[in-house]
Formats: sequence, C-alpha cells, structure tokens
Amino acid sequence: MGKPVILTGLRTNAEYHLGNYLGGILPMVRMQQEHAGVYQVNMFAPDLHSFTTEVDHDTLYTQTMKNIAVFVAAGMPIDSQDFYLYRQSFIPAHSELTVILNNFAYFGELSRMTQFKDKSEGKSNVTAGLFDYPVLMAADILLYGASYIPVGDDQKQHLELTRDLAIRLNNKFGDIFIVPKDWKHQLQFSKRLEGARIRSLRNPSQKMSKSVSDPTGTILLTDTPEAAAKKVKSAETDSVGKINWDWNNQPGITNLLQIYELLTSNSHKEVLAEWTGRELYGDLKVAVAEQVSAFLSEFQSNLSKVDKNSLQKKLEASELEMANQANITLAKVQKAVGLRP
Ligand code: TYM
Repeated sequence: MGKPVILTGLRTNAEYHLGNYLGGILPMVRMQQEHAGVYQVNMFAPDLHSFTTEVDHDTLYTQTMKNIAVFVAAGMPIDSQDFYLYRQSFIPAHSELTVILNNFAYFGELSRMTQFKDKSEGKSNVTAGLFDYPVLMAADILLYGASYIPVGDDQKQHLELTRDLAIRLNNKFGDIFIVPKDWKHQLQFSKRLEGARIRSLRNPSQKMSKSVSDPTGTILLTDTPEAAAKKVKSAETDSVGKINWDWNNQPGITNLLQIYELLTSNSHKEVLAEWTGRELYGDLKVAVAEQVSAFLSEFQSNLSKVDKNSLQKKLEASELEMANQANITLAKVQKAVGLRP
C-alpha cells in the first residue's frame, strides 16, 4: 500500500446535525488540510449502515447524495488526488469482508456494544443488521488499512472492536491487516484531550442526535443561522453562577464551551483562560451563537455552490480506485482463510 490512510464515514439517511459536523466532519477537514500530500484521505457514505435506524427507503438515495455534498461544502477538496469520496454499497468488498469477519467476531463482544444496547432497548424485532453493524464498520476501516479514524466519542467502542478483530486475525493468519491506532493516539493526532460528544442543548445529559425528544436541543445543518442562534441562546444551563469546564456539575455550560472550542479552533487552554470564572452565562451564549451562525452562513452558501456533475464524477472515479484497493485486501483475507489457493 502507498500513503497512510485517514478515513471516516457518516451515515447518510437523515439530515446532519452540529454533533455530526463537530465529531466527524470538521476533524476530517482539518486533518486533510494539515496532512495534505502525506496521507490518503477517504471519506465515504456508509449507506449500508442506513438501515440500523428507521429509514425512508423512497428517499434514501437522494438523501445520501445530498449528504455527500455536505462533505464538500464543509471543505473536503474534491480536486485533490489524495482524497477519495465514495459510497460504501458501490464497493462490494465491504459486504464480502463483513461476512468473513462475522465468523471471528464474538456474540458476547457485539452484545456489549453500547450503541447496540441503546438502539435495541425496548424494541421487539431487533435486526441482525443492527447487531452486526460494528463488524461492517470494522470492514470499512480494515479494507483500506486506515490508521486514523476521526469520529465522535460515541464511536470509540466500535473503533476498539475494529482493533480487536484486526489483532485477532493477524495473530491467527499473519499480518493481513493494518491495525488502526488506539484511542489515545487518535486524540493526539487530532490534538484533542477528549473525544467530541456534543450534548442536546435542551437536555445536556443526552447527546445531540436526530432522534432526541426535544428537537430544539439539536442544531441541524439545514437550520437558518437565526434559528440556530436562537436555539443556542435558549440552551439549558445551571444555577452555579460561574462558568467552569465541568461535565458532572455543569454539563450545559461545558457543552457550550466545547462547541466554542471546536468551532473557533482555539486550544482548550485558551478557552479555559477566556471563560473560566466568568459569571455572565449570557455572554457565553452570545459568543457561541455568533460562532454557530457564522459557520452555518458560510457552510450553506458553499452547499448551494456544490456542482452535482463534478460530485458524480468524483464518486465514480473514487469508487473505481477504492474498489481496486479494497479488493487487494479482500484477496489477501480470502487466501488467508482458505477461500483462495
Ligand atoms: P453516525 O452516522 O452515527 O455519526 C457520524 C459521525 O458523527 C459523530 N457524532 C457525534 N459527535 C459528537 N457529538 C455528537 N452528539 C455526535 N453524534 C454523532 C459520530 O461519532 C460519527 O463520527 N458507525 C458510524 C459510521 C461509520 C463509520 C465507519 C465511521 C460506518 N463505518 C467507518 C468511521 C469509520 C456511525 O454510525 O456514525
């Protein structure tokens, strides 16, 4: 293989929210800016993962294409030779490797995945697809030998499972996979002290998501800058009366500080120096609201300019090239497990 690989994917079956942007998209944009020329950068739509939450099959394809345009509007460089943009289901090796890996992944470890527990809780007819989704994610990563996987904190466990599977198969069959870096090195590479976990603005004990009970706690990338600023200004805080970075006692305030830190790209130290001990929560809300609305204005203007033809060409070229790369890894695995001479 050539250059080391940075890779991420975001499910594309619904509109993205600020948590997706700050956890999955922005770190990718910054990493590729910083490491252009040195790393291969893969960003893809894990469309086969769409079915793990409720999905409108009639609009899935359109929604996928809309969300792929978001990657470009957010700053991924469509013209770069080192950047590959693709749809998972267009590269059959993802599914084939998953079937093989399934036979080395344990029922017990998959049952312990927090996302599986959360998403299956209280549901009847929990699908095998939901249970198996972390194995598909492992295949997404291992096919390209990716080292760095910028994701939010909620995907940490899946990344660890990917490492476990890679190490397990390497121990049994020799070095067939590049093992992705562990969480500590992922954080170091993205110059972060902790993984991003953006909370709901209305209920900061929950993460920001598309499916929370109160939609005013979630900022969608399609919200107008004004509506988003309003959501920030009415964020739930606390009665402590002093600004502190303290997830346990002041999760609402800490959530705002986190959003501010990520959007401004000021260091954690700078953010603490600027805000710690201040008493006017309103000032912090105004500062965060300004950052969020400035980001949305620029992003939405970029989105309206994304050229659909160039996007289609980029996808087709990337899918051809990535199918070649993925098939090389798949062939190695097929040989190792005895499916090929
Ligand atoms: P998904 O589609 O649920 O989320 C996409 C990305 O958004 C991040 N994210 C958040 N980050 C911070 N705060 C939040 N509230 C928040 N909500 C979501 C997620 O951590 C993720 O980075 N299994 C993955 C998709 C996937 C993937 C992969 C990722 C499939 N194959 C291979 C990396 C590599 C998922 O369901 O993410």
